Amino acid sequence: MKPIQVGLLGIGTVGSGTFHVLQRNQEEIRRRAGRGIEIAMVADLDTTRAKQIVGDAAKVVGDAREVIANPDIDVVVELIGGYGIAKALVLEAIAAGKHVVTANKALLAVHGTEIFKAAAEKGVMVAYEAAVAGGIPIIKALREGLTANSIQWVAGIINGTTNFILSEMRDKGLDFDVVLKEAQRLGYAEADPTFDIEGVDAAHKATLMSAIAFGIPVQFDKAYVEGITKLTSTDIKYAEQLGYRIKLLGITKRTDKGVELRVHPSLVPTKRLIANVEGAMNAVVVHGDAVGTTLYYGKGAGSEPTASAVIADLVDIARMDGSDPAHRVPALAFQANTLAAAGNELPVLPMADVVTSYYLRIRVADEAGVLAKITTLLANAGISIDAVIQREADEVGGEGSNQTDLIILTHDTREGDMDKALAEIQGLPTVLAPITRIRKEELN
Ligand code: HSE
Repeated sequence: MKPIQVGLLGIGTVGSGTFHVLQRNQEEIRRRAGRGIEIAMVADLDTTRAKQIVGDAAKVVGDAREVIANPDIDVVVELIGGYGIAKALVLEAIAAGKHVVTANKALLAVHGTEIFKAAAEKGVMVAYEAAVAGGIPIIKALREGLTANSIQWVAGIINGTTNFILSEMRDKGLDFDVVLKEAQRLGYAEADPTFDIEGVDAAHKATLMSAIAFGIPVQFDKAYVEGITKLTSTDIKYAEQLGYRIKLLGITKRTDKGVELRVHPSLVPTKRLIANVEGAMNAVVVHGDAVGTTLYYGKGAGSEPTASAVIADLVDIARMDGSDPAHRVPALAFQANTLAAAGNELPVLPMADVVTSYYLRIRVADEAGVLAKITTLLANAGISIDAVIQREADEVGGEGSNQTDLIILTHDTREGDMDKALAEIQGLPTVLAPITRIRKEELN
């Protein structure tokens, strides 16, 4: 069978990894796919660099639209990123009847509904394994391997930059700003690391996992997003002393009322495997009703790990090219005509309706009755306390200090009730600083 012809849009880190792995493993990949996979064209603004990477193996052009216009190209691999030109090119490639492979989580999380609809109308595939957790085949696992299950929840460390920063803060007792600079020096964080540290990148990935786990449309606009910029090494240390590690988790959970979709720092029991995922590594835990809890671990970024996911998609497309679209795995795991109705039955819940437990750190005046007032306000809001620890005032504020930290762990509580109680506690004259509130996930 004729090799499938691929056009790459962008040959940076992931594109060059894709080219090299396809060359190195071409024989094994051909045996798996049943036909060869050839990168025939590469479009990149830096044509000189692109030519250095591919040599004579592929035609290099400066204009991505030349690739899309070439009738010999079967699949367009979009590795440009972002919502702008990438969106236009993906839609043009679909309109030209090309299959699309993309690593662009931002694009699919925000414009996925439009893109998957266009692809369905044209009968082409849009594959995106590389968009979530890099080399970990989590899309394959959710869409196919776990297809028997009613999935209950998914929780993942799905941003390597922030996991590296949190690991360093814990190991070395350093503050966020210091470690961020180190992450940038080592090339983990982008020069503008906003999407990583503010949780947006993780929320894009969580949005995609939420859609394929529960059969609902992609709804990034409804995700709750909170990053790690306000975390202090003090809270990381206190959490550690209580048997927890702080991780930036992307969480999506099915409840009776709807779907939780949220990214924020979370205390996770140190005994859980996912709590021990360190450095820039990623991991995703999926709980299905039949299989129970499963864990997926690996590199969430980087040249060849991400290329591994891109090429897996190319192999799927090489096998399914020319097949009846009705016989393919649906783009979002569930048949497209069922998504909207499921989305109405399972709306994404506002954060006030999310139920979770909490770690609270409250800086208080070290005097009689302070703890009693705080616990009364929590009790009045129906919030049950799991543990209370009071630090030594000397340890917190130095010798002779009359301030101290109260650490309170709660049982599961509706976030709206917690917001109300915290507003009241914050108003007490004996509460001396903004309260730190970090959500806690037992993941059991
Ligand atoms: N910036 C991402 C991370 C990598 O740090 O995990 C690609 O999604």
